[in-house]
Amino acid sequence: MKILTFGQTGQLAKALKRTKPNNIELTQLSRQQVDITQPQLIDEALEYYRPDIIINCAAFTDVERAENNGPQVLQTNVEAVKFMVNTASKLGIRFIQLSTDYVFDGNSSLPYSVNQKPTAINVYGQSKLLAEKVILQQQSNQYCIVRTSWLYHYSGKNFVTTMLKLMSQAQSNSHIISVVNDQTGSPTMVDDLAHFLWKLCLQKQWSAIYHWSDAGKCTWYEFALEIQSQALALGLIPSTVSLIPVTSEQYNSCVKRPSFSVLDTKQSHSIVKPKPWQQQLAHSLNSYSLDKE
Ligand SMILES: NC(=O)c1ccc[n+]([C@@H]2O[C@H](COP(=O)([O-])OP(=O)(O)OC[C@H]3O[C@@H](n4cnc5c(N)ncnc54)[C@H](OP(=O)(O)O)[C@@H]3O)[C@@H](O)[C@H]2O)c1
Repeated sequence: MKILTFGQTGQLAKALKRTKPNNIELTQLSRQQVDITQPQLIDEALEYYRPDIIINCAAFTDVERAENNGPQVLQTNVEAVKFMVNTASKLGIRFIQLSTDYVFDGNSSLPYSVNQKPTAINVYGQSKLLAEKVILQQQSNQYCIVRTSWLYHYSGKNFVTTMLKLMSQAQSNSHIISVVNDQTGSPTMVDDLAHFLWKLCLQKQWSAIYHWSDAGKCTWYEFALEIQSQALALGLIPSTVSLIPVTSEQYNSCVKRPSFSVLDTKQSHSIVKPKPWQQQLAHSLNSYSLDKE
């Protein structure tokens, strides 16, 4: 089976490369090869590679910067998806679009099901929601949306690596670290999402929307506490630092984020059953510790 990803350098694209099954032929296109805001480059690439399935890993993902870059966000997250879908439908290529828990407003206190109506509250979420509409308009079981949340790996730029870095710096500077404690979601080790996507590729027909995250939920503050406790046990940081829970208001971000964005993943369990996020964090930090040796 031939799979093509737009995006090569991002977290998910790298995870797909790391976890690729032997029988898959994987082509990954970087921004330098195909800038997805250029329709003719998308066309040429798809005509040339003729994959069986596209997994769109490319997106404008900086939630804060998105607030003041609306046109560029729409170009990357919505218009590009329209181009991809147009050419994919002409060439009979199946299509998986990655989406986000940030399509929801966070006013629920129960995990969001795939049937719930999304209402996004920031520019990034709104753009991903518009892209979802492009996919849903196809009304085809050969196109689907996979919503996920709070992706991390021990390499790259994400909450886990940021926390480990801050925790190491805070030791020498006797600083405290303030972490938001009124946003709840589900951390997801990105390789777990990649495994789910590989299994999804093998399904002959797709539902319109899938939810995938590791199991369980926490606030960012609780996530940071768990990172600290596991990192200490593995000797990745030398001692405890002061973690202070704060509200989103105190944190003073320029962007609204949902206070609750846990995804109900039940519908995906027949494909792969997610494992508890704490266990997957341990798995990731263990691998980090071994890699460092
Ligand atoms: N990260 C999360 O916590 C999270 C949560 C929920 C959903 N998601 C979704 O999951 C998907 C993958 O996220 P990720 O964390 O892997 O993102 P990421 O690490 O930020 O990677 C985004 C990728 O998109 C590429 N890209 C951006 N603009 C492009 C353009 N004009 N042309 C070609 N490539 C372009 C980037 O290339 P450069 O490196 O050249 O910039 C990068 O490779 C996205 O759809 C995202 O919305 C992510």
